Amino acid sequence: MIHTTSRRQFLRQLTSSSAALAATSWLSSIGYAQSSRGPARAVINQARYRADLDRRLLGAFLEHLGRAIYTGVYEPGSPLADKNGFRKDVIAEIKGMNVPIMRYPGGNFVSGYNWLDGVGPKDKRPTVLERAWNSLETNQFGTNEFMDWCKLVNTEPLLAFNLGTGTPEMAVAYVEYCNVDKGTKWSDLRRAHGYEQPHNVKYWCLGNEMDGPWQMGRTTAREYGRKTRDAARQIRVIDPTLQLIACGSSNTILPTYLEWDRELLEECYDQVDGISLHNYYGNTPQLTGNSSARFLAMNLDMERQIHEIAAVCDYVQGLRKSPKRLWLSFDEWNVWYRARGGRFANGQRQFAPRLLEEEYNLEDALLVGGFVNSLLRQAERVRVGCIAQIVNVIAPLMTNATSVLRQSIYYPYAWALQYAHGRVLDLRVESDTYPIKAEGLRADFARNDDVPFVDVVATLNPQNAQACLFMLNRDLESERELVLDWQSPSPTRVLACETLTGPDLKAVNTFEKPTLVAPKKLDAPKVGSKMTFKLPPRSYTVACLATS
Ligand code: AHR
Repeated sequence: MIHTTSRRQFLRQLTSSSAALAATSWLSSIGYAQSSRGPARAVINQARYRADLDRRLLGAFLEHLGRAIYTGVYEPGSPLADKNGFRKDVIAEIKGMNVPIMRYPGGNFVSGYNWLDGVGPKDKRPTVLERAWNSLETNQFGTNEFMDWCKLVNTEPLLAFNLGTGTPEMAVAYVEYCNVDKGTKWSDLRRAHGYEQPHNVKYWCLGNEMDGPWQMGRTTAREYGRKTRDAARQIRVIDPTLQLIACGSSNTILPTYLEWDRELLEECYDQVDGISLHNYYGNTPQLTGNSSARFLAMNLDMERQIHEIAAVCDYVQGLRKSPKRLWLSFDEWNVWYRARGGRFANGQRQFAPRLLEEEYNLEDALLVGGFVNSLLRQAERVRVGCIAQIVNVIAPLMTNATSVLRQSIYYPYAWALQYAHGRVLDLRVESDTYPIKAEGLRADFARNDDVPFVDVVATLNPQNAQACLFMLNRDLESERELVLDWQSPSPTRVLACETLTGPDLKAVNTFEKPTLVAPKKLDAPKVGSKMTFKLPPRSYTVACLATS
C-alpha cells in the first residue's frame, strides 16, 4: 500500500527537521565550528573517516549537444582524428584525467532520442531534427561508438534512456541490446552490428529531468514514478543487479522541489537504487547579488541540497518500511550562467552549432574546487557525480580545429581525479567566518549565514598511505593560515603542493593565452604533527603527503 501525505503535512515535517538542524548549526553537521580571528585549524585523525570513496563520484557528462560530440570527441576528416574519427588529442586529455564514469547521451537530448537511429551501418542512419536544442543530429556517433570511445579513454559508461517521448518497452530493449549476450532479438541485433560482446553497462539513468517544463515528455511525478517502476521491473528481469537511477528534482527552485522526489519515490522506491540531483550555479544579481564572496559559498548550497534530498529518500524509506537506503547521483553540476538560454541554447537547425560554450574564469574554478570538496564530504551518501559537461559544452575542455584548451575549471576537477583516493577523512575544522545575506536573492539561495573562510577536505589512500588535502581559501583579500593537527601518524614527506590563484578573479584562459589561470607550486610547510599551510587569497590548493 502506498501512503500519501498532503503538501502541507509534508512541508511541516521537513520544516521541523530543518529547524532541528539549525538549532545545532548547519555547519556543525559537516564538521565545522566557528573560530575567532586567527588561523583556521583542522584536526586529522586517520582512523576517523566519513566514507570510502566511490570514484564514480568524480565522473563527467557527454551529451549530444552543440559541439560536444561532433568536433568535440568525433571529427572524421580532422588531422587530429584516428581511423574511427575520434579526436586523439581529446582522448589523450580525458584519458590522462582518469575520469571514472561518463554519463551519455543526455541530458535534455535523451528525452527525444531514438537509440535505434544511432546504431547499425552509418550510411543507413537517419539525420533527424533534434528538438531539445533545435539542431541537426546525423547519428554518426551512437551507442557503439560511445562504448568504443569509453574504452579508449578508460572510463565506465553511465547510460541514460528516453522516458520522455520514449516507452518503457524501448528502454528495456536498449538494456537488452547493450547487456544481453546473445540469442534474443535485441542482443542479436547488436551482434549483427559487429559487437559480439555485450557492453555490460552497470549504471543507468531512467530518463532526464522529468520534472522540468522544458523537458520533452514532461509529466507528473506520479506518472513518471509509475513509468519508472514499470521500466525498472522489466530491466530487473534482464539483470537484477543493475544500478538504476530515478530522476529527482532538476534544481532547487522549481515549485515541485522535494515534493516531486517524494511522490515519484512513493511510486518506485523499491525498484530503484539511486535518485539524481542536478544544479547549476552562477554569479548573478538573482543568485549572489553579483558578490564573489557569496558565489564562493555556493558549494555549501550544493551540500544543503544533498541533505534535503537525502531527507526525502529517508522519509520514503521510513514510510515504506524498506531495508534499502537509496544513494544519490549528483549527475549534473557546474557553474553555468553566461552562455545560457536564447541563442546559446537554440541550434537554429544546424549541425554541431556553438551552444552553451561557457568561458570559465578564476572564480569559477575556485567554486568548482568548493564543489569537489562538498561532493567528497558527502561521499557517504552521494555515490555518483558528474561534472556537466566534459568538452565544448559548459566544459573544462574546449576544442578548435587544431588543439584542446584547458579552461580554468579543468584544474580543480583534474586534481580531484588525480589525488582523491581511498577514504574521505572526518575532519574537525575551525575557521573564521564571513556573513552572507539573504536580502534580494532568489529564494533557494537566500540565506543569512556565516561562511567559513577556509574549506578543507582530506582523503587518505590506505593502499599507499598518501593523504591529500583540498583547501579553498574564500578570503578575497588576504592570505589565510590553516594549521593541521595530525593526531595519528604524521606526514613524512610532501609529494606535491600546488595552488590555483591570481590577481584577477575574472581572468580566463583562451586559445591565444591558454595558461593565464593555471596552477603554481606553493611552498609547503615542513612535515610534522603540526603543519601550517599559508593559503593565498582567493585560492584553491592541493597537497599530497606521504604518511609512512
Ligand atoms: O547540461 C545541459 C543541460 O542542462 C542538460 O541537457 C539538462 O539535463 C540540463 O537542464
